[in-house]
Amino acid sequence: MPKIQIMPSILAADFGRLAEGCKRAEEAGADQIHVDVMDGVFVPNISFGPDVVRMSAANVKIPQNVHLMVQRPQDHLEKFVTAGSDTIQIHIEAKCDVPETLAAIRAMGRRPAITLNPETPVESIFECLENRWVDEVLVMSVHPGFGGQSYIAYVEEKCATIRRMADWVDLAIDGGIDDQTVARAAAVGCNLYVAGSYLFKQDDMAAAIADLRKQAEE
Ligand code: DX5
Ligand code: ZN
Repeated sequence: MPKIQIMPSILAADFGRLAEGCKRAEEAGADQIHVDVMDGVFVPNISFGPDVVRMSAANVKIPQNVHLMVQRPQDHLEKFVTAGSDTIQIHIEAKCDVPETLAAIRAMGRRPAITLNPETPVESIFECLENRWVDEVLVMSVHPGFGGQSYIAYVEEKCATIRRMADWVDLAIDGGIDDQTVARAAAVGCNLYVAGSYLFKQDDMAAAIADLRKQAEE
């Protein structure tokens, strides 16, 4: 199975001190920074855009894992690539030609990833795996749009299916990950863990990241 990695989501950082939030995550042992981009159309919330990716990339050395919760990702790819995104996740539910958009991300030298919402059937992404259009799959374990929601356990079945199909893929889980849920996600084959509110509310983020990593490895 690919390497276990912890990705703090800066959606849960203090927006008045975002650069410090990125540096704090890196110093605490984060493997990547997860940047949640929301357009107010695909999801009922607006967060931030490519300039925040640029800021994060300028402040830390770890990769930028960029989650595009936008209706038309194809219109914004270049801006996110130029800003310093390493992985770009698009939603299977977005209004775009998915293979074409994933191919465009790869052609620009970045890692393409596909994301699916809790209620979206796992079969919808089979083509992405069979054709290796993606390096990473992100399973949403909350309804996208907001941090701090509760983990939805029924998505675990989808994770297990994806892991059975593709032992090579980076399998990420996003939403409600904390010290109570990380082991459940690990048991169904996830190896990348996004955690926002849980990590940023800690006094000792390094200890919390180390604990998540340890539980995921067991
Ligand atoms: C939700 C975002 C998540 C969110 C996770 O739409 O995609 O990345 O920041 O937040 P927590 O860890 O608080 O559930
Ligand atoms: Zn996310």
